[in-house]
Amino acid sequence: MTPARRRPVGVVTRGTTNPNRLRRVDGWIARRCGTVLAGAADPLVIDLGYGATPVTAVELRARLAVVRPDVRVMGLEIDPARVAAAQPAADPPGLTFARGGFELAGLRPVIVRAFNVLRQYDEAEVPAAWAAMTGALAPGGVAVEGTCDELGRLAGWVLLDASGPVSLTLAARLSSLDRPATLAERLHKALIHHNVTGHPVGGFVAALDGAWQAAAGYASFGARQRWTRAVAALAEAGWPVLDRADRWRQGEITVAWSAVSA
Ligand SMILES: C[S@@+](CC[C@H](N)C(=O)[O-])C[C@H]1O[C@@H](n2cnc3c(N)ncnc32)[C@H](O)[C@@H]1O
Repeated sequence: MTPARRRPVGVVTRGTTNPNRLRRVDGWIARRCGTVLAGAADPLVIDLGYGATPVTAVELRARLAVVRPDVRVMGLEIDPARVAAAQPAADPPGLTFARGGFELAGLRPVIVRAFNVLRQYDEAEVPAAWAAMTGALAPGGVAVEGTCDELGRLAGWVLLDASGPVSLTLAARLSSLDRPATLAERLHKALIHHNVTGHPVGGFVAALDGAWQAAAGYASFGARQRWTRAVAALAEAGWPVLDRADRWRQGEITVAWSAVSA
């Protein structure tokens, strides 16, 4: 399908990207959203805002092809120069590039991954961007929107469906993580300014950090064991932790959005 001609919603921002920086979120998407992709009538996945080079779109296609060999990844960029620069990497129908913004160019994808895009917008612009993306999803579709550091060692993302935000995930390379509070710098745009005492997300970050400190005795078994113990402690304390230990061992924690939003 050719994207509809309409003015892309959004603004051109810095195009910084890096090979493999999105491996954590891609692994999570393949696992958490794999059923949705596998059952989709049209396996269209959009990588929104792929940046100065299309490398993370190329990687997304390869990672999701394991779940759905006929997956079609379309990289959408609001910067026409970056759309032109990506064309040599196109491999239709499995990998294509076009111009588009939060309206998703009139397409109806089953999954949208938008990474390090909203980070450069104002917090007040988040609800409209989310509504535009989720309003364009195919029935049962999901959007995964978040941010990470340059090398992808610290990351945070929100899962959204047609009803709005569902969950928040924080993920880290555990071997280089000093303490979970460091992940606060990768909190979502909608949360980062609220990471203070008295706000739900401030309580969540403090609880995770405290559980990590309390699990110090597990450090001799390795950072994975310590993280897994800390996340288990949060679940035992009543935090709505959604993923299971197999994801915790990857250095992830996923909680219900309602537990961290105002
Ligand atoms: C920092 S780069 C992120 C690249 C890649 N996603 C990554 O995480 O490595 C952000 C890109 O998003 C693009 N962008 C910003 N707003 C957008 C929008 N509303 N729709 C599509 N692309 C957008 C910018 O032009 C820029 O190239």
